[in-house]
Amino acid sequence: MVCFRRYGPVFDHRFGRAAARATAVAFTAVGKEKFRALKGMRDVMSPDSERHRALVDVFAEEARLAGYGHIMSPIVEELGVFLRVGESTDVVTKEMYDFEDKDKDRTRIALRPELTASVVRAFVQHNPQDLPWKVWYEGPQFRRERPQAGRYRQFSQVGIEVLGSSDATIDVEVIALGWRFYERLGMDQVTLLLNSLGDESCRPQYFAALEEYLRDRVGELSEGSQQTLEKNPLRVLDSKRREDQSIIAEAPLMVDFLTEETAEHFAAVRDGLEALEIPYEISPRLVRGLDYYTRTTFEFASTALENAQNAVGGGGRYDGLAESLGGKPTPGIGFALGVDRILLACDAEETFAAPTGEPDVFIVDLTGGKEATVIADQLRTAGIAAQRGFDGRSMKAQMKIADRSNAPVALIIGEDEVENNVVTVRDMVGDAGQTQIARSDLLTELLGRQDR
Ligand code: HAM
Repeated sequence: MVCFRRYGPVFDHRFGRAAARATAVAFTAVGKEKFRALKGMRDVMSPDSERHRALVDVFAEEARLAGYGHIMSPIVEELGVFLRVGESTDVVTKEMYDFEDKDKDRTRIALRPELTASVVRAFVQHNPQDLPWKVWYEGPQFRRERPQAGRYRQFSQVGIEVLGSSDATIDVEVIALGWRFYERLGMDQVTLLLNSLGDESCRPQYFAALEEYLRDRVGELSEGSQQTLEKNPLRVLDSKRREDQSIIAEAPLMVDFLTEETAEHFAAVRDGLEALEIPYEISPRLVRGLDYYTRTTFEFASTALENAQNAVGGGGRYDGLAESLGGKPTPGIGFALGVDRILLACDAEETFAAPTGEPDVFIVDLTGGKEATVIADQLRTAGIAAQRGFDGRSMKAQMKIADRSNAPVALIIGEDEVENNVVTVRDMVGDAGQTQIARSDLLTELLGRQDR
């Protein structure tokens, strides 16, 4: 009997040769199948992957300087956690990767489409006492969207969340951290769009006015927006459909409905940004793609990118989310920035190049013996980045690889060198001269060169 497994068949000895033949056939068939990454998902390889890591390092440093701790959340959560993100949003209704777990309760679980809900779930679960609780994160998110440039089904975000403070100064700190991060990357074509979505003290009045207005013009709305209107009138303002635009342009605005308190909060946020000389544009129709937002909302748009995918980050307050996830009423605010899109914007702005990853030395091994292995190990242990040749390739072939690696120095280890306990050190820049030095002096020589 042949049982199929991911990595090949399992042989059952009771069935002898026939089974063995079947096994062989099955094995070949499995081996010939070619797989590709799923639609909308990509392999990020060197040097792009190094660039991605370097970006996360810059973000981590910004977050550290501002006192944010690192949180690593699970990639999978109970579906209910994400339903709180907004049952009228595409992210939840159309794009979620959710499925039944194989446990006996058949729990419905989902790949996270974003991290805010997971972080707030963690806050409620662990109940930290020191408030505000400030965390930063990075990692992949999953949304089953229609893939296109800058829009993927698996994409990466960096972000921060703060729970336990209503202070407008926190809003300013959060927005400023995002802004300074783009600056650190060398991006200067980013626009900060700012809005206030009010809170429970003013939203019901606004919702009623908006709903009345939209219902009056329901016949002119696109079919999609007519359905959205039934679930959440605010979401209609997020429609990108052409036929909805003139109706959206004349719709009542939340800013006109803010109570004195929410208006004051919004004014304090604007004042703070002005004190930091961070430019912003008021965008009164900015509603964002998730339902949990209250009061301050913002988006970072790159003018270096195509319009449809120009949001390189966004966030806002979500003062009701902790409670909807079973916690005590706790205000919260944060943002997430799309790493893949930021890197596209950096390409467009010709900034934040990939780290070169060049080695300090390249070892040309002409003996196939253990010497090159030992030298590579010694150098790496001393903090010198050492690449080397393999498979007994010719001197010419290995020198070509050394050249391509951009290592400033090549170490040549041939029979003579091994016999005389020396290494030939060839300068790969300038006049490409070479000298022989004793094995015992190699480390000192290379470290000295690095200091020069
Ligand atoms: P979001 O606006 O859905 O917000 O996503 C934030 C950023 O992630 C977007 O501005 C974009 O750069 C990137 N992004 C979103 N979807 C894709 C995709 N399919 N492909 C590539 N990049 C994408 C949130 O996720 C909220 N959790 C932000 C937040 C944090 N609000 C409060 N705290």
